[in-house]
Amino acid sequence: MFLKDIKLKNFRNHLNSVFSFDYRNYITGKNGSGKTSLLEGISVILTGKSFKTNRLKSLINIEKKFFEISSNFVENDVKYNISLYYDTKKRLTINGKRHENIINFYHNHPVIFYSPENEGFLSKEQEMRRNFLDRTIFYLDRSYIGSLLGYNKLLELKKKYILKDVKDRLLYKSIHEKMYFYTKEIHNKRSNLIKSFNTYIEKYLIDIPSFNTEFFSLSYIPNHLDEDILDKELIIKKVLSGPHRDRILFNLNGESFENIASFGQRKSLSLCCIYCFLKVVEDFSKKSIILLLDELESGLDVERVSFFMGLFDKYQYFLTGQSKIDKDINIIKLS
Ligand SMILES: Nc1ncnc2c1ncn2[C@@H]1O[C@H](COP(=O)(O)OP(=O)(O)O)[C@@H](O)[C@H]1O
Ligand SMILES: [Mg+2]
Repeated sequence: MFLKDIKLKNFRNHLNSVFSFDYRNYITGKNGSGKTSLLEGISVILTGKSFKTNRLKSLINIEKKFFEISSNFVENDVKYNISLYYDTKKRLTINGKRHENIINFYHNHPVIFYSPENEGFLSKEQEMRRNFLDRTIFYLDRSYIGSLLGYNKLLELKKKYILKDVKDRLLYKSIHEKMYFYTKEIHNKRSNLIKSFNTYIEKYLIDIPSFNTEFFSLSYIPNHLDEDILDKELIIKKVLSGPHRDRILFNLNGESFENIASFGQRKSLSLCCIYCFLKVVEDFSKKSIILLLDELESGLDVERVSFFMGLFDKYQYFLTGQSKIDKDINIIKLS
């Protein structure tokens, strides 16, 4: 898939912007000119979500009531248009027609991003780490979304129930019991993917220039459903067990990742994880992948920037930054 162009209307600070793309794209301009917002626009059309916020409403220009994104793609020599209109609900059309199966579309068009606000596996919040893992699984396995949605629906039911005044413990337990099926699926798939990630990380980490890391790996700590704490959940009004509390941790040269001081090292590891995500999706699904890398260069020395740009070179990519890049690259200057 190749993204040819995009039109953003009332999308953050872009009131009416049109951009044409190449394979390699470098978006530049002053702070606040809308570089990250342009990447967000691409992410929203291809995933239905922004990588910065869960609330699509905040993407509508503050003085407007809706946003609209329209973009043209080429896939296997066939051109098509995808548009998304959002006011309070999403309306997605492909070639002018309402698209019934949005999930299939997202599944078939993988996008990967890095932004300082969302560092994937190296994000501060466990929720972002889990989302990063879940997105990879979803690109490999369309049915995974069913397990996630099934589990989340029951989780919401539990939360609603907890807030009720009249409690029927048996009913609460029956919701809990229905969760086992989805939990098993989620735990198995997350655990398998972390194992694959670790073999990829071992392979690619050694290539990062002047990177004195002997050992880096991810650990997956599944949170198992626990029937014995249901009473406690009802008292403290919080759902305490299940995959929504799974954790992903790091081990770098025998130490917990959380103690690493250097921003450059952290960023290099983050980009390495992103490259592994890309390779896993590419190797197992053979789909073409679009890369969005916000502020790729900040915190990295020249040698590492060119190393990562070399790794990402065979994919259609969109970088943002403020340097005078002298590569064979399509420069988009925002003002
Ligand atoms: N919903 C919104 N409505 C209007 N302006 C917005 C909205 N959200 C963000 N902005 C503004 O859009 C500008 C562009 O932000 P951003 O894309 O992060 O710029 P850059 O990445 O180039 O520094 C910022 O000035 C920000 O305050
Ligand atoms: Mg920015």
